[in-house]
Amino acid sequence: MRHLRFGIIGTGAIAKVHAACLKEIESASLIALSSSSKSRAEKAAEEYGVPVYAHYNELLSKEALDAVIITTQSGAHLEPALAAAMAGKHILCEKPIEVTLKRANRMIEMCKNEGVKLGCIFQNRFNPNFRLIRKAIREGYLGKLLMGNASIHWFRDQAYYAESPWKGTIKGDGGAALINQGVHTIDLLLNLMGEVGLVFGKVGTMVHNIEGEDVATASLQFKNGALGSISAGTALFPGYAERLEIFGEKGSAVLEGGNIKEWNVEGISSEDKNNRQKFQSGSNNPMDISYQFHKQQIADFIEAITLDRDPEVTGESSIKALKLILSIYESSEKNQVIRMI
Ligand SMILES: NC(=O)c1ccc[n+]([C@@H]2O[C@H](COP(=O)([O-])OP(=O)(O)OC[C@H]3O[C@@H](n4cnc5c(N)ncnc54)[C@H](O)[C@@H]3O)[C@@H](O)[C@H]2O)c1
Repeated sequence: MRHLRFGIIGTGAIAKVHAACLKEIESASLIALSSSSKSRAEKAAEEYGVPVYAHYNELLSKEALDAVIITTQSGAHLEPALAAAMAGKHILCEKPIEVTLKRANRMIEMCKNEGVKLGCIFQNRFNPNFRLIRKAIREGYLGKLLMGNASIHWFRDQAYYAESPWKGTIKGDGGAALINQGVHTIDLLLNLMGEVGLVFGKVGTMVHNIEGEDVATASLQFKNGALGSISAGTALFPGYAERLEIFGEKGSAVLEGGNIKEWNVEGISSEDKNNRQKFQSGSNNPMDISYQFHKQQIADFIEAITLDRDPEVTGESSIKALKLILSIYESSEKNQVIRMI
């Protein structure tokens, strides 16, 4: 495996997870970071012992990097990505890829034109329990898919939004509970069930002082004819582990907090679900996530660069969840069923 030199753009909460992962991955090293906040820059320089630049352009021009990880606020992923692509750096971008389709597509196009790899972090795609359900579906053990439901009944207090003022804003976050928290489970739902054809959604801001939604629901019809639903929130006290329920003609499976909760699939074992490794959910604490999946996704990205293949989560694949969430917002606003093409 090639040894790759990484820079991290942004020094907030999730940047710490990436820095910790890079420290543990033998074929990577963290060379430098950039931060728009002076105090965070100083803290990060001390913590990681590498240069921290005030602007990503400085990071890109002064350091010999192979790749960057973008951890800025969701609505500010595009600009550093364009600059990095033009500088010939491969890009691993935090979820959601961006907050509008126009901005996300621009990033994807630019990376294609500049010949750099683009990956988007959806670390739960590396969860072995999710992969087991995907394998069962792909190999026909569930039969025809009938219904797929995602529930992300999470809780965040107002202080969570106050700490990062971009969170819950339309410009910085694109919305709130669906696009920031729910997006992970929605991405998994789409990966298992396929694309959505029709959606009717309703979102509301009921508790928090934010622009985006803190309660949301949607009814879905998938293109393969199966039905489904999404319910999500960050006002749902005290916050429950997110659930993904998949029903097929021949069996069903439920993932809860990343763990197999129910397994009624003949012919393929879930092993002893009580003995499987237990994963954590971020249901009421944003940092209560298993960072091993981030590590696996970074390792996959490095391998993709080395072998010149697509990363597990490409820009194109990550945009599907964004597209559905934006359709739920549109449906809610127009009071209409949206036909997705
Ligand atoms: N994969 C996951 O499980 C996960 C978890 C948390 C956050 N995230 C994603 O990571 C990103 C950052 O989230 P966070 O919780 O670390 O946020 P945060 O508020 O803690 O940090 C955001 C960082 O972006 C920087 N920043 C803000 N505006 C900027 C701008 N205009 N230009 C450049 N830098 C800017 C801030 O200085 C800060 O360093 C978001 O896209 C979020 O959705 C992913």
